[in-house]
Parts: sequence; C-alpha cells; structure tokens
Amino acid sequence: PGEKDALKDRIRALLAAQNAVLVAHYYTDADLQALAEETGGYVADSLEMARFGTESDAETLVVCGVRFMGETAKILNPEKRVLMPDLGATCSLDEGCPADAFRAFCDAHPDHTVVVYANTSAQVKARSDWVVTSSIALPVVEHLASEGKKILWAPDKHLGHYVERVTGADMLLWDGACVVHEEFKSFALERVRKLHPDAAVLVHPESPDEVVDQADVVGSTTQLIKAVAEMPNPEFIVATDAGIFWKMHQLAPGKKLIPAPTAGEGATCESCAHCPWMAMNALQNLERVLQTWDQEIQIDAEVRERAVMPIQRMLDFAR
Ligand code: 13P
Ligand code: SF4
Repeated sequence: PGEKDALKDRIRALLAAQNAVLVAHYYTDADLQALAEETGGYVADSLEMARFGTESDAETLVVCGVRFMGETAKILNPEKRVLMPDLGATCSLDEGCPADAFRAFCDAHPDHTVVVYANTSAQVKARSDWVVTSSIALPVVEHLASEGKKILWAPDKHLGHYVERVTGADMLLWDGACVVHEEFKSFALERVRKLHPDAAVLVHPESPDEVVDQADVVGSTTQLIKAVAEMPNPEFIVATDAGIFWKMHQLAPGKKLIPAPTAGEGATCESCAHCPWMAMNALQNLERVLQTWDQEIQIDAEVRERAVMPIQRMLDFAR
C-alpha cells in the first residue's frame, strides 16, 4: 500500500504540473477510477467521456479506457494532447471491423444510412453518417426510421439486433461481437434468477438476445449504474464487465450485486467478465505515459475531418 500511495502521489503531481485530466471508463481498474474522480477528472460511459473531453479546459486528456475512446477524444479536440496508458488497448468490435471491408460493405448498399457504434476506428467513423453509443442508439435509430431511412449498422450484431427489435427499423447488420459480453450464458442466468427472485437483472446490450430478453433494464454502463442507485430492489444481477461494480458499490453500498454467469452454473467471481483491453490500463503505465508522452493518439487530418461530423451529430442529438 505504501508503494501504491507513493505512485498515486507522483501521478497527481504530474497531472497538476501538465494541466492534464484523467477521463476513465467504468471498466477500468478501481484505483484509476478513484484517482480520476479525486483529481478533477471524470469517470463515465463512452458518450459522457466524449462530452467531457469537449468541456474540459485541460491541455491534456489522459484517456483510461480503450483506443476508440482516445481516438474520439482526439477527433473532437484536435488542439489537445490525448494520451493513453497503452495504445494497444483495443476492442474486439473495432478489431472485427476493418476499414477497407467496411467501406466495401457500405459501397454495396448506397441506399442505406450508415450508423456505426462508437467502438470502431476513426477510419470506420469517417465512412459513417452517424456515430452512436449504447446509451443513445435507440433514439437515434428511432429518429432515422421515422424519416423512412434504411440503416446499415456496424459492428455489434447483438446491439444492432436489439435496436432492430425495439425500434422495428429496417437494419442491415455487420457480423461483429464483444468477446466479453458474448460470454454471458442465458440458461445459467435463468438459474441465478430463480435463486434471487427479488433481484433486478441489468444487461448491457452487447450481450446475446437470450440474455437481453431476461433483463429488467438494458442500457449503457451509466444507465445500469443509475438503475442500481434508483431501483428499490435489494439485489441486482449484472451482465456487464466487472469493473462497473466499483461505482455501483460506491453509489448503493447497501445493495447486493451478483455477477451474471459467464461459465455455467456455479459461476464465481473468478469467472466474472472483464475486458482484457480495459485491463491494460494501470497506475504504472499511467505514470509512465505522463513522463514520456510516448502513447499519444494521432489522427490523420483528412480522417479527422470526416469523422468529426457523425460524432458531433451524436453529441448534438444527445443534448
Ligand atoms: P458504454 O458506452 O456503455 O460505456 O459501453 C462501452 C463499452 O465498450 C461496453 O463494452
Ligand atoms: Fe470492446 Fe467488449 Fe471490451 Fe467494451 S468490453 S471495450 S465492447 S471488447
């Protein structure tokens, strides 16, 4: 603990000296989330992380999360330095949607409005009409469907299918998935629900249909956290990355939080879902990047110019 406290002190000093703020996602290590909060930074879902970057006066944004979050921050704030503890922190959705193949898919369906999930590269966003996060996908697609638009959706097929089912929109789906949320098991979840009849089931919409179908609340990380704080249930079964429990415990300390099963009956916390790329963010590489600036996000100017419009559209729509 002594060594960790000293490390945190050094990071606090580096942040202050460089007019830098931490913007952390709820799936990152609890130490990083706590440090972000206590140093004037922010912990949020991916939509709020993007918005915070545009509102902050800091010269440097240090994005603790995965690469697309850093890229979005840089696209929206080209004048700021955007650092990440490790630029190798990617996302299976981003990896599963290479820009060339995606452009060819769009070119083959020119009559469709292209809506991409935020979990994509800057190049993919540059080919889109709209960017959405899980917190705003439903109203954006509802709005487009009300104008009679057909939608090409990428890359998460589970979120896409959920949005299609709720809105009734005409959607063509890319075949991508999140390796973390795809692991939630519906049969095992049914058993856990029977063991906890008073529990509300909270599900991130990157999960498979049969898991989403059992949810009391489907939503982004922020929306699921709000549900724990506001719903009267004493227990919650949570189908998303285990990093979220830190904030849930903080806001609702008296409530029991049960990880949704990923490995069949009897799943324990060792089998809790945790994104391997989010786990690449740590106090040690955070200190290092503040000393060396060697993990800085750079975006090609032409790509940035094209990608900023669909992201800004999302932020304007969310207001
Ligand atoms: P949120 O927008 O809900 O924070 O989700 C981001 C993400 O990567 C979920 O896996
Ligand atoms: Fe990507 Fe899934 Fe990790 Fe979120 S949890 S960053 S969608 S791999």
